[in-house]
Amino acid sequence: MKDTARLRRRILSREAPIAVLGQGYVGLNVACAAAQAGFPVVGVDVSESRIADLQGGLLTVPGVPEEEFRSALATGRLSFTTSSDAIEGCEIALICVPTPLRDQVPDLSHVEAATKQVADHLSRARLVILESTTYPGTTDHLVRPILESSGLSADRDFLLAYSPERIDPGNEEFGFRTTPRIVGGTSPEATGVATVFYEQLVDKVVALTSCRAAELAKLLENTFRHVNIALVNEMAILCQEMGIDVWEVTDAAATKPFGFMSFSPGPGVGGHCIPLDPTYLAWQVRREAGHQFRILEQAEDVNAQMPAYVASRIGEALNDVGKPVRGAKILILGVTYKADVGDLRESPALRVMAALSRRGAHVAFHDPFVDAVALNGSTVPRTELTQRPVASADCVALLTPHSAYDLEWIAEHAPLIFDARNAFAARHVSKVIRL
Ligand SMILES: NC(=O)c1ccc[n+]([C@@H]2O[C@H](COP(=O)([O-])OP(=O)(O)OC[C@H]3O[C@@H](n4cnc5c(N)ncnc54)[C@H](O)[C@@H]3O)[C@@H](O)[C@H]2O)c1
Repeated sequence: MKDTARLRRRILSREAPIAVLGQGYVGLNVACAAAQAGFPVVGVDVSESRIADLQGGLLTVPGVPEEEFRSALATGRLSFTTSSDAIEGCEIALICVPTPLRDQVPDLSHVEAATKQVADHLSRARLVILESTTYPGTTDHLVRPILESSGLSADRDFLLAYSPERIDPGNEEFGFRTTPRIVGGTSPEATGVATVFYEQLVDKVVALTSCRAAELAKLLENTFRHVNIALVNEMAILCQEMGIDVWEVTDAAATKPFGFMSFSPGPGVGGHCIPLDPTYLAWQVRREAGHQFRILEQAEDVNAQMPAYVASRIGEALNDVGKPVRGAKILILGVTYKADVGDLRESPALRVMAALSRRGAHVAFHDPFVDAVALNGSTVPRTELTQRPVASADCVALLTPHSAYDLEWIAEHAPLIFDARNAFAARHVSKVIRL
């Protein structure tokens, strides 16, 4: 591209205006980081209510740190709009829109729509980066042709790259800046300029040789988690059958200082990434190679059965104290998909609750992050965590171990506890049944 040197200079001086399409968890995080780094940034979203909230200084996107949002707003360099006209004149466009599944098939309609908006406002010497998680080939075979429908060509007139978001919501140790970035462009020049851009925002950038490699690296990471979680979940089921304590086994294996990475069993996988992203890969393997990605599909099966397994173990725990599930009062503690995060998406705890409710249990819940949940067609408001509901429950089931929970206090008052996370460890052994 002719003007690469100028674009590079404009990035290094942090003058290049940036449009971030999609102001969800991923887009708002990168928009805040870029504004704090000194870039003028406009966050574009199709959701009027989301933009109205953000314009009003209201942070309604779960997982984005409040202090990052406040500091970014305080720079005066971050604005929000629903109008895609704001992309005009921006030298960098980041696409951070959802990539859901529809009927278990990747739904790239949001990526297509956002890319069309960028194409409508594209001019020479721009850098376009896709950040949404997707299967290998999306940037080359879907995004690129849409952008080139503008009459401009990738590499000759503008630069195109893929860079996945990898941050772990709620992780105190690794945040946006300290999680290395992977970047792959359609040409070495595109990779180089995209690398320079992310170097302004994060401590380390890892440059790859293609968009496809960067797309697949992200899916490998999530598939790795999925498969390893399935492994310990299956181990938990086996251990129960063999009368062995799975937590003792996983803790022991974790003492090996090399060659083992510890994962914990639980009620299944949740969140936006782990349950969905690997399906993109499995779908593509079936479509392109004509066979199954067997280990991944088995991991999906194992993890998908965990909510029903946990519900049946709660039923067994009740049975052992002479109580049927039907009519039992069960208080679920923690319904978000992971501890200390207010995100309910794909949360397996909701499936555990639904399974117990279908069997006739009276299911209540507490979660410090959630006011109400939908359960088999009705809305269940949060039960406050006071002595009465804990003491009167037939079983208290800890599914998501938020750090706010006072385990000593819960153990003191609950008559029977099912602990899906080993939060109680060896404490109060007689009344705590562990997964
Ligand atoms: N949430 C995570 O933990 C996480 C982590 C890494 C990667 N990802 C990936 O990043 C992508 C975005 O995820 P998210 O969690 O930020 O999604 P999100 O649902 O929180 O937000 C996406 C936003 O994009 C908006 N949007 C949809 N179409 C649009 C368009 N055409 N133009 C402008 N805005 C549009 C939506 O209104 C929404 O506000 C997905 O591909 C996801 O898989 C998510």
